[in-house]
Amino acid sequence: VKRDYGRNFPGYGILRIEQEDRRMYIEEMPFFRDFSDLAEAADRRGWHERNGGNLTYRLTSGEVKAWEALFHKTEPWQALVKAEPHVGGEYYLVTGSGKWMRHVVKEPRRCAGIIEISTDGAAYRIVWGLEDQGRPTSELPTHLAVSALKKRADEEKNRVIYHAHPPYLIASTFTIPLDDAVFTRHLWEADIENPIVFPEGIGIVPWVLPGSREAAEATLEKMKNYRAVVWAQHGTFTCGDDFDDTFGLMEVLEKSAQICCTVAAMGGKRQGVSTDNLRALEKACGLKLNEGALNAKG
Ligand code: 13P
Ligand code: ZN
Repeated sequence: VKRDYGRNFPGYGILRIEQEDRRMYIEEMPFFRDFSDLAEAADRRGWHERNGGNLTYRLTSGEVKAWEALFHKTEPWQALVKAEPHVGGEYYLVTGSGKWMRHVVKEPRRCAGIIEISTDGAAYRIVWGLEDQGRPTSELPTHLAVSALKKRADEEKNRVIYHAHPPYLIASTFTIPLDDAVFTRHLWEADIENPIVFPEGIGIVPWVLPGSREAAEATLEKMKNYRAVVWAQHGTFTCGDDFDDTFGLMEVLEKSAQICCTVAAMGGKRQGVSTDNLRALEKACGLKLNEGALNAKG
């Protein structure tokens, strides 16, 4: 029975709310909640002053199928700085350029959005969010390049790519030599369980222009071997299979850098973790540790 109570019915407002409640909202979908949870938690850690940092997530085909009806496909296509054919046809949830991580939860449609990549990988268009003339993060070239690289290795892994401005890691790039093996060795020694989290080590990119193609290319080169890259005097790029995996890696790296900085402020190391200690851990945990870092001096 279709009941039309009309605007003058006393319960009109309540009825409208009930009807609206049955509508589906992208910002209530599990992947969006995980995305905004990371944004909020990371901001609380002090990794996102102002608009610093950005986050992207490659939707699964199941998520696209389930929510595609909520996407509008009327926005114009915009050329990408560099075509990424390997991610042609993919959809990404992204933070907006100039938007603050702190605001993602309260203003999801302004601070974040979903973009569709054209089938040839040369352009993108906004299909949800990024309202009021928003655009995707300026670091999109690096996010897409890393996403394409990781997707080539495994379709299902490393869907989350995350750029942060963590203070202790940035501080460490002023003192620890900008060398993958040496940097890794310093961070490994900060907590003996660290090598279990990043046995392959981390990559270091010397100063590079933010948002540039050079930044994307330098990061890409390092991401062939690692899941975490530190940009000297700027921040980090990390990736993971899900939001917890990515956030957890960032936490471990930043806490290690905090310990390194604290030790340096206390007058420097008097003792540390030996290569034999690391070999013992490698054997006990069945790891394959980065040889360069095993042979480096921390
Ligand atoms: P966006 O606001 O464009 O994401 O840039 C922030 C940033 O950290 C650039 O490196
Ligand atoms: Zn940045």
